[in-house]
Amino acid sequence: MIAFVTRLLARGEPILSEASARDAPGFATLHAATFRRGWSDSEFARLLVEQNVVAHRATVARAVAGFILSRQAGDEAEILSIAVVTSRRGRGLGRQLLDLHMRRLAGLGVRAVTLEVDEYNAPARRLYSRAGFHEVGRREGYYPRAGTSPSHALVLRRDLA
Ligand SMILES: CC(C)(COP(=O)(O)OP(=O)(O)OC[C@H]1O[C@@H](n2cnc3c(N)ncnc32)[C@H](O)[C@@H]1OP(=O)(O)O)[C@@H](O)C(=O)NCCC(=O)NCCS
Repeated sequence: MIAFVTRLLARGEPILSEASARDAPGFATLHAATFRRGWSDSEFARLLVEQNVVAHRATVARAVAGFILSRQAGDEAEILSIAVVTSRRGRGLGRQLLDLHMRRLAGLGVRAVTLEVDEYNAPARRLYSRAGFHEVGRREGYYPRAGTSPSHALVLRRDLA
């Protein structure tokens, strides 16, 4: 079953749209498969009904292939998380999700978007740099790493016109 879903997600054409609370289980599954500390269904369900949380999903045959969500506070927003299923990475889906999300945030009156990224997360850093984010700070020793010193979190920002 897992192999079937993986093949399906790798092949079909993704559809991007705004997310709703109904996406919580799919987001939680992808988040848990992606990050060391996964967020549960109920954490996502709570986030997705917050009025100031903006979220988009990419689906293939109704399965979640990627998501992005951020929280707006006045004219600023912080990207809380973005992930794409492993079988679809490196094919532009992260960029499509980020572009759509940034356009929506701009439409909501957001003038600056911030986020944190691990200094060693090359794909994410490339994605953000191509999207016009630049470093405005860093949190030293923020992300734990097995058997070695923790890595820094880079604080990135992009101002929207
Ligand atoms: C970060 C992530 C969302 C990017 O999604 P994606 O669909 O692979 O992104 P894209 O295909 O649009 O690629 C974005 C850029 O990263 C580059 N990239 C992709 N895989 C890469 C890799 N393994 N190493 C270096 N760069 C890579 C691409 O070449 C592209 O740059 P380009 O436009 O200059 O060619 C995805 O890798 C992911 O889910 N990672 C795990 C979760 C994560 O780290 N989230 C970010 C937390 S801050």
